[in-house]
Amino acid sequence: MPPYCGSSESLSVRAFFSGYSRTVRSVLIGLLAASSLVGTAYAQDAGGNQAELIARGRYLAKAADCAACHTAPDGGEPYAGGYGIQSPLGTILSTNITPSKANGIGDYSEQDFARAVRAGITKDGTHLYPAMPYTAYAKLSDADISALYAYFKSEVKPVDQPSKETELPFPFSIRSSMAAWNMLFLSSDRLQPDASRSAEWNRGAYLAEALEHCSTCHSPRNLFMAEDAGSGLSGGTVGPWSAPNITSDKKSGIGGWSDAELLQYLRTGHVASKAQAAGPMAEAVEHSLQHLTDPDLKALVTYLRGTKPVGSGDKQPRYTFGKPSATELSLRGTAGLTPAENGFHVFSGACANCHQADGGGNARYPSLYNNTATGANTPENLIATILFGLSRTVDGVTIFMPAFGTDASFTDRLSDKDVADVSNYVLSQFGNAALKVVPADVARVREGGSKPFIAVAAPFIAPAAVVVAAIVLLLIVSAVARGRRRAATA
Ligand code: HEC
Ligand code: HEC
Ligand code: HEC
Repeated sequence: MPPYCGSSESLSVRAFFSGYSRTVRSVLIGLLAASSLVGTAYAQDAGGNQAELIARGRYLAKAADCAACHTAPDGGEPYAGGYGIQSPLGTILSTNITPSKANGIGDYSEQDFARAVRAGITKDGTHLYPAMPYTAYAKLSDADISALYAYFKSEVKPVDQPSKETELPFPFSIRSSMAAWNMLFLSSDRLQPDASRSAEWNRGAYLAEALEHCSTCHSPRNLFMAEDAGSGLSGGTVGPWSAPNITSDKKSGIGGWSDAELLQYLRTGHVASKAQAAGPMAEAVEHSLQHLTDPDLKALVTYLRGTKPVGSGDKQPRYTFGKPSATELSLRGTAGLTPAENGFHVFSGACANCHQADGGGNARYPSLYNNTATGANTPENLIATILFGLSRTVDGVTIFMPAFGTDASFTDRLSDKDVADVSNYVLSQFGNAALKVVPADVARVREGGSKPFIAVAAPFIAPAAVVVAAIVLLLIVSAVARGRRRAATA
């Protein structure tokens, strides 16, 4: 781990513990006391069912999607870290969680592991950023933590490769500030079964809330980037992407989907004439959801059905917009000077060979009408798909759309204006025609999405604190002076 852990860090960690409820504090004190016994406890547990425990841990690691974040793209060693998570505050790099003694978690006891995964604090007391979804994993059961630990200790190959350091700008570079954030936003409660619901719903809740951490993407966040608990799953943003409302609401959520469609989407990322999974959802399907058992997928569907419906003011479901286009004939041969003409020409040149001139797609390529990416109430996913493309490997088959916004792609790079024009063409013909995209929207998506308040305000936090401190000082000084004057005149 990086050498963040000075004595001031451990002081603040202690202060942080004192803010916790009594039960948690006693658990933490218990952890310290127990740390010397861990080795033996683990060995006893290990006994006969060790293979079963490891197999369960392997499944849980898939369900919790540990590999997606902890494996570098393009051939990184499994779990050796180095994957960059684009946060609005800067890129946060995942660390090496292989059982390497030198560079990974090889010398972590089960308690150390539990504390890192559920409380976001490493063995040496360093606070993790919540890019590691410990707020969701806090709900994991002790039994599942044991199984995960057994899997990481015994089956994952150790990789002696140091983790790269995350360097966020001040003040986010001060990791101990996460202690304050945790005090406000981290609940240490494990998930309690809801007795009024079926066993299947409860299993789905555990999968969705603790393991698959659906809400880390699909829930809105407050000014401090913590999930807004009241409106769970009613839509959030993940960098440039928008994670739609997936509450049971009939118009804004998934209330109009059939059970079979939801199950198929979660397992494959594709439902014809409805939706496809790109970006972070493609990763969730590829690395995690496609590996779940059918009963677990069914439990997730049952859970989604039972969520509180939260409307976002939509008049019709986002998969019901648009129809086949017939403008091809009227716009063919035009000079391409107006934005509408240019949008058509970009579409003809860059999109129509796959999605077809009338937008209806074919057996291999999806239709652009009846498509949640074009009928949504925000254009983010349409723009992001054009810029970054789509890649999703399910059952060994890769579904692929080229990226038109990055140099790495073999396609022509489209300018912000071209992407805006083609987006408006697609929206007007096939999707939510009320939306208008301007080149600045495209630039924002290209740069990773809009910045939340806390990131925008960051450069001003330190100066603002100085100003506030100065005002407070002045007030105190003048109050003291006034008190003196009064004492003198009395
Ligand atoms: C959404 C991305 C994401 C997922 C999913 C994720 N992690 Fe992490 N994890 C991170 C990041 C990023 C860090 C480093 C954060 C930092 O440096 O503050 C991290 C850090 C850790 C650490 C601290 C290791 C150390 O350096 O001492 C452990 C342990 C860990 N993760 C285990 C897991 C396990 C086990 C899972 C699956 C149950 C998991 N992570 C899933 C992103 C993720
Ligand atoms: C890493 C972020 C992330 C996680 C985790 C995640 N999603 Fe998503 N999800 C997205 C994004 C982004 C989209 C939009 C994808 C697109 O349209 O290409 C999406 C789309 C969906 C859709 C389709 C909605 C529509 O109208 O097109 C459903 C259903 C869904 N997610 C369910 C889930 C469930 C259930 C979970 C947890 C098991 C989950 N997601 C976990 C980011 C995520
Ligand atoms: C080489 C073929 C190809 C080209 C060219 C192409 N696409 Fe796609 N597109 C795909 C495939 C494949 C998918 C995903 C299908 C799936 O996920 O099942 C897709 C998906 C989409 C989606 C849905 C994304 C989501 O998040 O749900 C949109 C919108 C889209 N394309 C728009 C465009 C536009 C606009 C262009 C032109 C700028 C374009 N495509 C060019 C093949 C292509």
